[in-house]
Amino acid sequence: MAETKKLFIKTYGCQMNVYDSERMAEAMGGAGYEATETAEDADMILLNTCHIREKAAEKVYSELGRMKALKTDRPNLKIGVAGCVAQAEGEEIMRRQPAVDLVVGPQAYHRLPEMEEKIRSGARALDTDFPEEDKFEKLKSRPKAKRAPAAFLTVQEGCDKFCAFCVVPYTRGAEVSRPVDRILTEARDLVERGVREITLLGQNVNAYHGAGGDGGSKTLADLIWQLDKVDGLERIRFTTSHPNDMQEDLIEAHGTCSKLMPYLHLPVQSGSDKILKRMNRSHTAESYLRVIERIRAARPDILLSGDFIVGFPEETEADFQATLDLIKAVEYGQAYSFKYSTRPGTPAAERPLVDDAEATDRLQRLQALLTQQQRDVQNRMVGREVSVLLERQGRDPGQMVGKSEYLHSVHLDAANHQIGEIVRVKVVQSMTNSLTGVLV
Ligand code: SAH
Ligand code: SF4
Ligand code: F3S
Repeated sequence: MAETKKLFIKTYGCQMNVYDSERMAEAMGGAGYEATETAEDADMILLNTCHIREKAAEKVYSELGRMKALKTDRPNLKIGVAGCVAQAEGEEIMRRQPAVDLVVGPQAYHRLPEMEEKIRSGARALDTDFPEEDKFEKLKSRPKAKRAPAAFLTVQEGCDKFCAFCVVPYTRGAEVSRPVDRILTEARDLVERGVREITLLGQNVNAYHGAGGDGGSKTLADLIWQLDKVDGLERIRFTTSHPNDMQEDLIEAHGTCSKLMPYLHLPVQSGSDKILKRMNRSHTAESYLRVIERIRAARPDILLSGDFIVGFPEETEADFQATLDLIKAVEYGQAYSFKYSTRPGTPAAERPLVDDAEATDRLQRLQALLTQQQRDVQNRMVGREVSVLLERQGRDPGQMVGKSEYLHSVHLDAANHQIGEIVRVKVVQSMTNSLTGVLV
């Protein structure tokens, strides 16, 4: 029998990469690899990379420099690059770092086992195609290993929106939705393996329009109602959404589907209509606020999360103030904010930059406001009763850590309870990044 080899995958970027890394690990399981947590004892290292901002992409080259040194002692070690940097800079990675044996783009992961065979014979392999077939169907999964209670499930990939700053339409390709029945099969399989909560993933998940069994196309709300019927699945989430694709049936589901959690990540990027237009976002601050109003009408306690970019080309102080005003109007419970980063090949890359010190200053002011809002929303949870899905042991004996419906981390004493259980908890304290609770 062939000896089991070890695979170390390091994942950068978004949740879709996390999901992809799991699928690749499973596929490589079929090719004789088991996962390891350290690069030092690996036979193959795979970096699953992110290209969204310049810093993210540069990290990959410095990491590759470090990984290359490991080859001196272990000439049989293979190094691969997957993910969005692989897609965007495949040839250049091969040129810049001769220690790289393999480059595979996000739509070609099902070909990874074949590529591994090729590099074992000493060749290098590069595949950044966008093949027609559903790669997830071809990524064969290993026998049913037990899973943590919360899992990701990619239902839609790629993006047709072409925001002027963003690489995703180029690295992930055109928007494609997976058929409903495949998603349901995968969801049932996850539940059998111990999963209680599934987060449906897509770069534009609320534009989901997968084929239903009846030949027609289904919306994300249709899919959620199908998943609602899966016994043993207790919680459903989805991310990331575009404001223009928040259709009525999805908004309504937030009020009527008890398994759908009261949390919505709805990036806006800017509060200035001039900047939104130049970003090619195709919504205005006003239309975004109207969507938020409708969601809150359907589910008043929903926790809202957003993404923001400051220092986009031609952003003035007045434009930035409009973003602060929008944030004040919404009150976010969670947020991600970034300084604009020029991405080669995107439309905005040609435009004049905002002064860097100015952009940094705006980011700090924006983050101060968002942090304050997050704290306020979290502090207001004290005294309330929430449901907590227990995800792991805490630091102290008998302590467990889990997530509330609103995605807050909650610490509690729950010695007689198991990971995967959902318990009712009264929140007693708000800490910096989590809540403390007691069992009800
Ligand atoms: N599909 C999602 C997420 C895209 S990437 C969406 O449409 O919202 C996640 C976030 O990274 C974006 O929402 C945006 O805020 C940020 N981002 C994308 N490109 C960027 C760039 N060039 N510079 C800075 N931030 C960027
Ligand atoms: Fe990027 Fe815009 Fe598509 Fe989101 S909607 S992935 S920001 S192009
Ligand atoms: Fe990064 Fe690609 Fe995700 S660029 S954010 S890993 S889609």
